[in-house]
Amino acid sequence: MRIEAAAAAPKTAAAPASRRVDTTFDKFHDRYSLRTLGLKTSPVRALFAVANRPEVVSLAGGMPNIADLPLDVVGASLRELVDTHGSVVMQYGSGQGEPDFREHICEVMAVEGLIADPDDVTVTCGSQQGLDLVTRIFCDPGDVIMAESPSYVGALNTFASYQADVVHVDMDDDGLVPESLREKVAAARRSGKSVKFLYTIPNHSNPSGISQSVERRREILAVADELDLLVVEDNPYGLLNLDEDPLPTLKSMDPDNVVYLGSFSKTFAPGFRVGWVLAPSFVRDKLVLAQEAATLCPPVFSQFAISSYLTHWDWRGQIRSFIDMYRIRRDTMLASLAEHMPEGTTWTRPSGGFFVWLTMPGAVDSAAMLPRAVTKLVAYTPGTAFYADGRGQRNIRLSFCYPTPERIKVGVERLAEVMREELEIAETFELADGRRRSRDLGPGPNLA
Ligand SMILES: Cc1ncc(COP(=O)(O)O)c(C=O)c1O
Repeated sequence: MRIEAAAAAPKTAAAPASRRVDTTFDKFHDRYSLRTLGLKTSPVRALFAVANRPEVVSLAGGMPNIADLPLDVVGASLRELVDTHGSVVMQYGSGQGEPDFREHICEVMAVEGLIADPDDVTVTCGSQQGLDLVTRIFCDPGDVIMAESPSYVGALNTFASYQADVVHVDMDDDGLVPESLREKVAAARRSGKSVKFLYTIPNHSNPSGISQSVERRREILAVADELDLLVVEDNPYGLLNLDEDPLPTLKSMDPDNVVYLGSFSKTFAPGFRVGWVLAPSFVRDKLVLAQEAATLCPPVFSQFAISSYLTHWDWRGQIRSFIDMYRIRRDTMLASLAEHMPEGTTWTRPSGGFFVWLTMPGAVDSAAMLPRAVTKLVAYTPGTAFYADGRGQRNIRLSFCYPTPERIKVGVERLAEVMREELEIAETFELADGRRRSRDLGPGPNLA
């Protein structure tokens, strides 16, 4: 049924031209592409506005803590850039990204032992755009992408926007389970689906906090090779190792079959919106075409700004100082969880990155619990956000990156209190109902 813009206010001569006219119906509602109709609004978005109030401890967002950055140094170098290179930095640039900047990117990757040629790098607007371009060049509607369970919500949204279907692969403490990958790819292919790639976050995954062991990396690459499956490695947290040196990247272990996504958002600043894709040359050519179609070129000013930062500042030392700060926050969160969480709750112990993944005992639904948690002045991200198939009800993603250690302690204590109350209610009602206590809210990995 076509719904006209019934509620559009009649134009009157008296109405000032600039006044906004609110309509009840979107008069374009029947014109959006199927791709757009597949995009989902987060059911918890409205709550996040409340969660951002200062009295609420938010363990929800994944914003890096950039308070430590030398803003005076960055400010002075931006000024200098405008003074000395103004006509270049404010001009269009290369669709692939500035050549000098791509060399700097290779220096950053070398810290993880990934030796790359600047020619194989395509600069993007954050690794989020890298995900978008990779999906754009590989996926048609109905194609299948294999992903961890749980997986990064921003990637799931991108995949949905290209109408690709996500199949979640099982995980354990060492990351994605190779046998599950083999089985699920085979099942998808048997049903006539084209499986385009495996999307994986091997280091300190968002949201699970889990890292793949080196042995597991080898096994995953061997299965991918056996199945002729491209691997897309998303690695924004690879340099934020809180306990140990970086593990080898999948890309360094199998250069020809891995497309690697990197980002400056977690090791410098997300506001510049700069990331990159390192890909085999044929793929790189397609990425550059897709980048030109999308943006003409990635932001030139940002690329020069980051080059200047990398040249004039001890960025390796800066990353070490970020690591020290995040380690204190991670340790505070883990200690607080151990002290306060109700019996039967489990959680992961990340060796880096920003996130802890918590599994609640009993029949409690984390999305339904969120409004009550916010009323008690604590916020988190419900686990369902990280699955394309509705799982994750018993799970919660907690971020330790942004709040101070004091706020983390308070937040975890409040969350534990809310969980206790919810568990009590669930128990009471289930017993009163005469039902068994094991109401199935989905498997939810129990990875602690
Ligand atoms: C796993 C993962 N990939 C990609 C991104 C996007 O990062 P960027 O700021 O580089 O676009 C994020 C951001 O949180 C992330 O966690």
